[in-house]
Amino acid sequence: MNPISTLALPPSFTWGVATSSYQIEGAAAEDGRTPSIWDTFCRVPGAVADGDNGDVACDHYHRMPEDVALIKSLGVDAYRFSVAWPRVQPRGRGPVNEAGLAFYDRLTDELLGTGIEPWVTLYHWDLPQELEDAGGWPNRDTAYRFADYAMLVFDKLSDRVSNWTTLNEPWCSAWLGYCVGVHAPGRKDFPAAIAAMHHLLLGHGLATQRMRAAAPREMALGITLNLGTADPATDSPADRDAARRADGMGLRIYLDPLRKGEYPADMVEDLTARGTAIPLQDGDLDIIATPFDVLGVNFYFGQDFSGTDEQGNTHDAEGHPVVHSVPLNLPRTAMNWPITPERFTQLLVRLHRDYPGLPVVVTENGAAFDDAADATGFVADEDRTSYLAEHLAAVAAAREQGADIRGYFAWSLMDNFEWAEGYAKRFGIVHVDYATQVRTPKQSALWYRDTIGRVRGA
Ligand code: FCB
Repeated sequence: MNPISTLALPPSFTWGVATSSYQIEGAAAEDGRTPSIWDTFCRVPGAVADGDNGDVACDHYHRMPEDVALIKSLGVDAYRFSVAWPRVQPRGRGPVNEAGLAFYDRLTDELLGTGIEPWVTLYHWDLPQELEDAGGWPNRDTAYRFADYAMLVFDKLSDRVSNWTTLNEPWCSAWLGYCVGVHAPGRKDFPAAIAAMHHLLLGHGLATQRMRAAAPREMALGITLNLGTADPATDSPADRDAARRADGMGLRIYLDPLRKGEYPADMVEDLTARGTAIPLQDGDLDIIATPFDVLGVNFYFGQDFSGTDEQGNTHDAEGHPVVHSVPLNLPRTAMNWPITPERFTQLLVRLHRDYPGLPVVVTENGAAFDDAADATGFVADEDRTSYLAEHLAAVAAAREQGADIRGYFAWSLMDNFEWAEGYAKRFGIVHVDYATQVRTPKQSALWYRDTIGRVRGA
């Protein structure tokens, strides 16, 4: 399966697997952890498929050494995990909770002890509930709380951890959490989402400044964005404008302030037309544009946009222009996401062109399929294996066109709590039997291990 194109990846390329705290840890009320917005959201009737929650998840909190051995068996170089803020700093402010932080200290040592590089994400969506009660990300103070929390983790682990990511996918936190309401905290308030976006970026900048100042040696500091492609469905001016809006809200409104120190003028104009302003204060853009070392890209699929929806409307009920994602006539994953590897190349080449000088690591890429495990728990997931192979080939193709892509992390190490989809959607390259917590590498995991070996010439 595309062995030739993945072989074009250099020996120095970083290969990894990724997870996040709430999706795997469980132990929701242990060692002083307080509820996060996801613990709360899971209790809202109808919010999560099957009423699932992260109370137990993959029970990783109790099975960590065994999981590190599993990671080791996959032959990867690095493991991307996130730290649960409400474990380390219950209630989101005040002193460190040593018992909670000790878990990540042990995890770091366990990884380094087997020769796996830890890649730490400080925020993968589990905001302490008490900070949400105080206004959440739409409240400016949360940015400062985040930087304080980041330093608690950094002070403990920076003697051993060299790769740091501030935020995972601020678009999801802001947009899905505060505007669409399908993710925690489940609010549906457009201006609140815009404020959340700005304060997430501000929190990233504040934390980056403080980590850099305190860094005991050279470190790779970064942020991870979920990025796609936004092409116009047709060449009509309305479709091109819809694609511009989608690209603006999904990509440029994050990367322009981060890299150019300004919000895109057309986005500011669109927001003004909606009567919404970014709550910008003097100096914010300088903080947000603090230099960082690596851009994490999470890619799942690309989209086509139209200015007309399926009913023929060009404006929504509130009079705003329609930005409609037109279903692509392509094979899909179990998430109903189209499989678009060539658009992955397109995205990576475009990032290289529009935001030059920024090394990229693919911090997530992968797919959910309706797996059928055999009696031993093994899954012969040809579909997921193809997905990974095609997307790795897309990375290699982008590199050939000059894009500076340094690594790739498969999402995910193992099946886990897939947010609003609960446990129904399986993204793991390792199968998890939730009744027994037995982990079984799928065919895709074996393929991944063998591919890494081939690239390394093993
Ligand atoms: C990303 C999230 C990750 C996982 C994948 C499928 O948006 O960062 O936690 O849920 O999607």
